[in-house]
Amino acid sequence: MTIRPIYWQDEAVMILDQRLLPGKLVYLPCRDMRRVIHCIKTLAVRGAPAIGVAAAMGLVLAARAIKADDPAKFRAALARRAQVMAQARPTAVNLAWACGQMLETARAAEGEVSAIVEALYHKSQRMLEDDIAINQAMGRHGAALVPHGATILTHCNAGALATGGYGTALGVARAAAEAGKNPSVIADETRPLLQGARLTAWEMVQENIPVRVAPDSAVGVIMSRGMVDLVVVGADRIAMNGDVANKVGTFNVALQAQRHGVPFYVAAPLSTIDPGAKSADDIPIEERAAVEITKLGGRAIAAPGAGAINFAFDVTPNDLVTAIITEVGVLRPPYEKSLAQAKANEKIQ
Ligand code: MRU
Repeated sequence: MTIRPIYWQDEAVMILDQRLLPGKLVYLPCRDMRRVIHCIKTLAVRGAPAIGVAAAMGLVLAARAIKADDPAKFRAALARRAQVMAQARPTAVNLAWACGQMLETARAAEGEVSAIVEALYHKSQRMLEDDIAINQAMGRHGAALVPHGATILTHCNAGALATGGYGTALGVARAAAEAGKNPSVIADETRPLLQGARLTAWEMVQENIPVRVAPDSAVGVIMSRGMVDLVVVGADRIAMNGDVANKVGTFNVALQAQRHGVPFYVAAPLSTIDPGAKSADDIPIEERAAVEITKLGGRAIAAPGAGAINFAFDVTPNDLVTAIITEVGVLRPPYEKSLAQAKANEKIQ
């Protein structure tokens, strides 16, 4: 089965509602940009590369609705909508990156407004296809780091669901399985929204890759018993010094990995590396509603009257990151150098 988190169907963007997984497989047809933004904010679609693709497709819907015959006015109106879209979630840089790519496409397209809208549609479709190809390349590079029969621990969901398809961190597990290495996966359940238990476990079961779910708080005991060969996680934004923002709890995993001598790998496309962020200090961390912590599946689990701390992401400092797996290869410390080089080559391509 091929997992498709997002795709075009006629005039609508079809978004797989990840809030209902693994219980129900429901697609939400989106016919205007506001609905796409709502899906991004409420995590119907989530994961850095997937929300980048969603933003691109949402801007196509917005472009189709702009009533302007003059290309300059059209471009200005699109830029205003892109600004709104880019703010749907703050941490994953892929969102702003995708909006930038769409504005660049609109700038470069020649002819009438209808031709620009057509170019934007094709660009969004290409971004989806490119993302899958990028993940497959990343998978190939990453699989080389996976020993035969290895157990991979991952946090959150950096799989097909979080991307155009195939996945970043889970793409590494998939590629290792395709190479006959028989990997197995430990999925941190990932409080509070359980992306690991609900989504990563579901994907791995679909793929026949053995998977066990563990409470986030069990990482220490699991690693101390030698049950993990390597960690592979995704990323929402990587600063130019190699500091990595990812789902809250990733930093704890990295600390445990260092304590127990387990390699800690980050798998992410070059678009997740933010040339505008020098270090962790430049990465905005999303804070979400307290109710995500105080309730579980709609039922109150915290004492009435208690507040909550709900950072959706944390930053793992670069010295805890063994290597960063990208579509162009495995980048190693010193990251200031390897990341700058990879980004410079990206511009040339
Ligand atoms: O809040 P989410 O579910 O969007 O968080 C997602 C993550 O933290 C992923 O690990 C990250 O976006 C990488 S996805 C390939």
